[in-house]
Formats: sequence, structure tokens, C-alpha cells
Amino acid sequence: MDRRRFLFGTGLTVAGMALTLRSQAQAQVQTPDTAAAAPNDLSSWQNVRAQFAISPDHINMSGFFLASHPRPVREAIDNYRRALDDDPFDVVEKVEFGSRLRVERAVAEYLGGKAEEVALTDSTTMGLALIYHGLTFKKGQEILTTAHDHYAQHESIRLAAARSGATVRKIKLFDDYQSISADEIVSRIRKAISPATRVVGVTWVHSSSGLRLPIRRIADAIAEANAKRGDADRVLLVVDGVHGLGAVDETVAQMGADFFAAGTHKWIFGPRGTGIIWAKSENWKLLRPVIPSFADGPYGAWMEGRSLGETEAQWVSPGGFHSFEHRWALPAAFAFHREIGRARVAERIQTLNSMAKEALAKMPHVRVHTPRDPELSAGLICFDVEGMKPEAVVEKLLAKKVIASQSPYATSHPRLSPSLLNDEKEVEQTLGYVRAMA
Ligand SMILES: Cc1ncc(COP(=O)(O)O)c(C=O)c1O
Repeated sequence: MDRRRFLFGTGLTVAGMALTLRSQAQAQVQTPDTAAAAPNDLSSWQNVRAQFAISPDHINMSGFFLASHPRPVREAIDNYRRALDDDPFDVVEKVEFGSRLRVERAVAEYLGGKAEEVALTDSTTMGLALIYHGLTFKKGQEILTTAHDHYAQHESIRLAAARSGATVRKIKLFDDYQSISADEIVSRIRKAISPATRVVGVTWVHSSSGLRLPIRRIADAIAEANAKRGDADRVLLVVDGVHGLGAVDETVAQMGADFFAAGTHKWIFGPRGTGIIWAKSENWKLLRPVIPSFADGPYGAWMEGRSLGETEAQWVSPGGFHSFEHRWALPAAFAFHREIGRARVAERIQTLNSMAKEALAKMPHVRVHTPRDPELSAGLICFDVEGMKPEAVVEKLLAKKVIASQSPYATSHPRLSPSLLNDEKEVEQTLGYVRAMA
């Protein structure tokens, strides 16, 4: 929507204003993210690694924590920042209001869905909060979640349930790390769904253990339960997908989730402070927006005193002005993945992680908690070293200039995360330091 015309009171209709601006935007606005994604030899992992400005003084085995921006993303952000510093009013009008859905389109292409199915957020945490607070619950309805999810999901559920009156139940998907199986996980969820269950909230890749859940199979089990239910009682599958998105090559829009939230500032290497919610078109009407969006629909309705129809994805993207240079540069991150090849990215992460897990499993003083099966794992490895506290393991590695992390859960483990920021030599070196802890 053309806020400038609105401010100057030309009296144009909302649709007319948007149209005028869209054609102006196409003519005048540079798209630095496209320019930055141009020629780049990403055929070797060394070249991919060279796109990151991350310090070469350390081996970074915690790349998943928060992205270091690769070159195309840095350049896109810089270009947009310069343009914003030059003329914030004009640039926001053109890029934000004049080319609607540009960022959502890039996200949707990667997810295998449609731009109209994507809301933009700042993080996984924000996405989960918007989903759980946006859903309505009938008296007695329940949110079923697991004991293994991140604070962001549990706390979103707790806060939303306190407002809506929904009840909350947590189940374990396995009793110990050695007994994890896809069949058992699916069976436990199937059995736990009760007539009161309205939502099943799970995490695609657990940052507590590195376990990757079989989301497609969980969705199928939920679909069976839903066969006997009406629309208002249908069980909805909410997925925290942050450590799967960009780490494994699955098409999110076909995994069977009803709502999928993820930050794009971890494995996607998107700008820090970016994230998404994806849901099928027909599911968006189930959410009540929590934060006013600046989308044409609600803004136009407010200006013209109209009431609004069913919620659309864009109405859930929180409005207000943002750190736009970051949000607008998100397509550059997806272009970066496309250029490397998303299957190649997933394969690389799997290769390095399998290599590390196999070697760790052979060390008598180490217990690996993450499944060795690549179908049940992704890019995170949790383990324990006999006789050592997790923080001691992390500190010892840091003394050797290896950045590891400790899982932020009640039961905590040291974590390694071989990624595109590493190569085989770095993995070997890290393994050598763990081996020496015997
Ligand atoms: C499983 C999981 N979900 C959510 C988050 C929070 O992510 P964000 O910073 O995108 O909110 C984390 C943090 O790393 C996480 O491990």
C-alpha cells in the first residue's frame, strides 16, 4: 500500500495505490539479493566455506546457534542498508509496500508451497508464540506435546494455554537414547491422542538430543485419528522445524504439518532476526492474529472502516517497521542454498555428522545420544564423556579452540554440530580432542 499517497490524501483506492506502486517498484528498485546471488563458484566445499566471514582461529562446531551471514546475504543486507540510510521513506514504500510477497515467494519456493501460505517472523520463538496464541480452543481441549521440546515451544504453549484455558500434556517419545525408534515414536503419539486433543506440538530435530522426528509418519498417524473427527475437533500438528530447515532435504509443504515455524537465521544462514511460519492456505483461518500486521487487507479494512474476513497468512506477519535490510535480504539466503544445491547441502551435513558419530561411538569413554541412523538425525550430535560434566567438555574443547555448545535443557549434554562451516580435517581434529579426554 502506498503510505505516501495515504499521507498526502490523494483519495486513491487501496488496490489502485498498490498497483501504481508495484509498477513503479518494478521499474526502479534494485534487487541486491538477486545481484549478490550471481556468479559464485560454489562447486567446492572450500569455496562455500570461504563465503563466511567466520573467524578461522577456531573450529566452529556450533554454527547452528545463530548464522554467520554468507557473502551474498552480507551484500544484500549492506545494499539495502545503504539504500535505507539514503532515503528510508522512498525505499520502504517501494520495496516493502511496492513489491508485496517478494520475500514470501522466495521462502515458498524453498518450502515447496505458495507465497500466500507464508508469514514472516523474527524467529522460531515468535512463530510458535503466534501460532499457539492465535489458535482458539474449546473448553476442555488439550495441547499434547512432548518432554523433549525447546523452551520456545513449551513456553509458547504454557503462556497460550493460560490465556485460552486449554490443558497441556507432555509425553515422552522414548525412555532412553539407546531405545529410540521411529515406530515407537509414532506409536506413542498415536496412543496419546485423546478425544480432547486439539494440537500435537513437536520438534522436527531436537536440540536436546539431535533426534530427528519422522514428521511425515506422525502426520499420517494424526490423519488417521482425524478421519473420525469433525473440522472443529481435528487434531492439528504444530512443528518447530528450526533445526531441520536447511539441514535436511525434505519438502516442508509435503511433510504433513498443519503449522510449521522456524527461524531462518540458523541452518538457512538467513539474516539474523528472520523466521517464518508456513501453513496450508486453509489452515490460516484457524489463527487469530496477535500483532497487527501492515498487510493490505487489515490496513485497508481499518482505513475504510470495513470488517475483515477469514485470516490470511500475511495478516499473521507482525507489522510495525522492522530491521528491513535483514528481512529483505532473506531471499539471498535461499538463493545461496539453491546455488550450492539443497540435496548437496543435506548430504554434506549428513556425511560430516555420520563421520563424527561413528568415531565417537567407538570411544569407550563416550556415550553418543543422537541416533546413528541418518533418517533419525540431522546436524546435531549430543554425547557425554564419562566422568565429565557437559560444561567441562565444552571448556576443554574451547581451550583447544573448538567451539562446542551445551544443550540448554534440564538434562544437558555437550553438543557438536559439523556443518558447512567445517571440513573433514576439522572434524578429525575435534574428534582427536574428545578422544584425548579418556
Ligand atoms: C529446537 C529449538 N527451537 C527454537 C529455538 C529458538 O530459535 P529462535 O532463535 O529462532 O527463536 C531453538 C534455539 O536454538 C531451538 O533449539
